[in-house]
Amino acid sequence: MSIQFFAPRGKEGAAPRLPLSYRQSVKWLPQIGDIFPDFSANTTEGKLRFWEWAEGNWVYLFSHPAARTPVCTTELGELGDMQDEFLRLGVKALGLTASPVAEQIEWHREIERTFDTRVWFPSAADEGGTLATLFGMQHAKESDQWPIRKSFIIDPTMHIRMMFEYPVSVGRDTNEILRVIEALQLRDRTGAATPANWMPGDPVIIPDERSEFEVVRTFRNYSRRVLPYLRIVNL
Ligand code: BEZ
Repeated sequence: MSIQFFAPRGKEGAAPRLPLSYRQSVKWLPQIGDIFPDFSANTTEGKLRFWEWAEGNWVYLFSHPAARTPVCTTELGELGDMQDEFLRLGVKALGLTASPVAEQIEWHREIERTFDTRVWFPSAADEGGTLATLFGMQHAKESDQWPIRKSFIIDPTMHIRMMFEYPVSVGRDTNEILRVIEALQLRDRTGAATPANWMPGDPVIIPDERSEFEVVRTFRNYSRRVLPYLRIVNL
């Protein structure tokens, strides 16, 4: 059975026509592999120029709707607790939301007192939503007031390596962010791919046809073929 599109209706065999509102909604649709643009912003730690601040580090850049909102509060509390893990992986974090700097600073102190943690990363005040619009964080059908929860993982050469978008009502899993960064760093070090539900320490996939000698040299282990096209190795 062929796929049916119910709206908008197009000529049979023609490329699907997007509604006008879709075509006008974003200027840049960020993609994995794009260089993340440089920008400057006022943050809770002063004025920040993105590339200068980020250079040579992995970056977790994330938007969230607003200061002093419940789900955002729990997200920042969890990130606060994970400073050592982010440091271990060489990752800087940068928040982005529409609330003014002064309000965010007060809110961060409140989070620190309540959860006995430390908000160790800066957060940009994107009043007016210029950056949120540019980075595709403004999804009017989810909220015409606030940016959604959008996350970018950016590598030390400022390339986007992963993105995900969560609705306003669902908080992100900080461990998942760290898991993906570990997988990407492993990929860069060894060329390995990571299977579904992979956790650090689990076997990995060799996605290429390198020799067994190379495998042993890189992973200090022999590989095993589960299927002709699925070759795994223990770390
Ligand atoms: C929240 O973080 O819980 C939230 C954010 C925006 C609107 C409503 C709730």
